[in-house]
Amino acid sequence: MSGTTTNTVTVSAPDVLQITPLENAPFGARIILPAYAQDPADLNEDDFQRLYKAVHEYLVVVLPDLAELKPSSQYQLTKRFDPTCEGAYGHSKEFRHEKSVLRRDGHSTPAQPQVQILGQGRHDGHAGVPDLLLRHPTHMSFHHDPLSDDDMANGYTRFYRWHIDSALYGLAPPVVTTLLGIDCPVDKSQKIRYEDTGEEITTAKATTAFASGAIAFDNLSDEDKEFALNTTVVYAPHPYIFISPAKATSDGLTMVSEGKELPLDELPEWEQSKVKRLPLVWTNPVSGKHHMQVHGCCIWKLETPNGTLELEEARNTIHRLMRPNISPDRIYCHDWNQGDLVIFFNRGVWHSVTGQFEEGGHRLMHQCNIASAVDPVCKK
Ligand SMILES: [Fe+2]
Repeated sequence: MSGTTTNTVTVSAPDVLQITPLENAPFGARIILPAYAQDPADLNEDDFQRLYKAVHEYLVVVLPDLAELKPSSQYQLTKRFDPTCEGAYGHSKEFRHEKSVLRRDGHSTPAQPQVQILGQGRHDGHAGVPDLLLRHPTHMSFHHDPLSDDDMANGYTRFYRWHIDSALYGLAPPVVTTLLGIDCPVDKSQKIRYEDTGEEITTAKATTAFASGAIAFDNLSDEDKEFALNTTVVYAPHPYIFISPAKATSDGLTMVSEGKELPLDELPEWEQSKVKRLPLVWTNPVSGKHHMQVHGCCIWKLETPNGTLELEEARNTIHRLMRPNISPDRIYCHDWNQGDLVIFFNRGVWHSVTGQFEEGGHRLMHQCNIASAVDPVCKK
């Protein structure tokens, strides 16, 4: 029987996978692996089904003490959540395009290219990568009106970009993302100010924030629910390149419309058949709940019951629908402990990076998601 020691108390691992809802959070659960599976890739089918159901019902689950998880195990576990996936990373090669807003986010592990290395600082030699310099995404280069140096010196940060992990062109959105905290120093707290309401939250530095698409849908007015259920989101071709000259709103929900997007004829080659048209509401295949799921920064058009909304109006409409759902009482901020493996239902939550690191700051994480073969659907 294996066990972990917490202070003087030895806690024995259970015989079957255990699920405990998070306290003081609107959603989320903590998972303890069964004794026989110190590597979650080794779960038997019954326990994997418990985990699968928990991810779909609690939306974000945390498995502690897995800092040594191998990239191959992380990949196998991630892939197991979606029998349709063929094994490629959730983004295509345009991920690294010189103009893509994602180009600096992460570095593939050579032995398991679907697993990305994320973080901050120098980690030369990690996973066999020489000269590995990581850069934590920062709102300073992405938001239209970034915080002042004074605000940042006083501990303020922003939600960088609320999003779903997906290429949103050609490929279908991954079912889950797994995120492993290997080296996550918790040295300071940070504050996020909601500029429209003046509310503030305090979290650990560089927390990962999550919002539930199901809570978002449930809190829409009856009229907006009807609208959402009958609306299709059209994403721009190569959306992360399309938006690259534009800047985001200060809440990270969408882009400011100033006509700065790259003209369609200046994008890398694209074809209409790969443009993503996805329902605004995706039905959870386990709970049957409706989740409002949209990447507000990458939208191009909305096809609504009342006609098509073009870029600016589409962004304004989506911002109005999304904004209440990132309020302090609706979100879960995961404050990282070394070894946390977070699995989130990418088709049921939105998430955002926060924080910025000082010179010399360091953090190391592994992330994996795999493009699905099938798009999410809305079952009305
Ligand atoms: Fe992400």
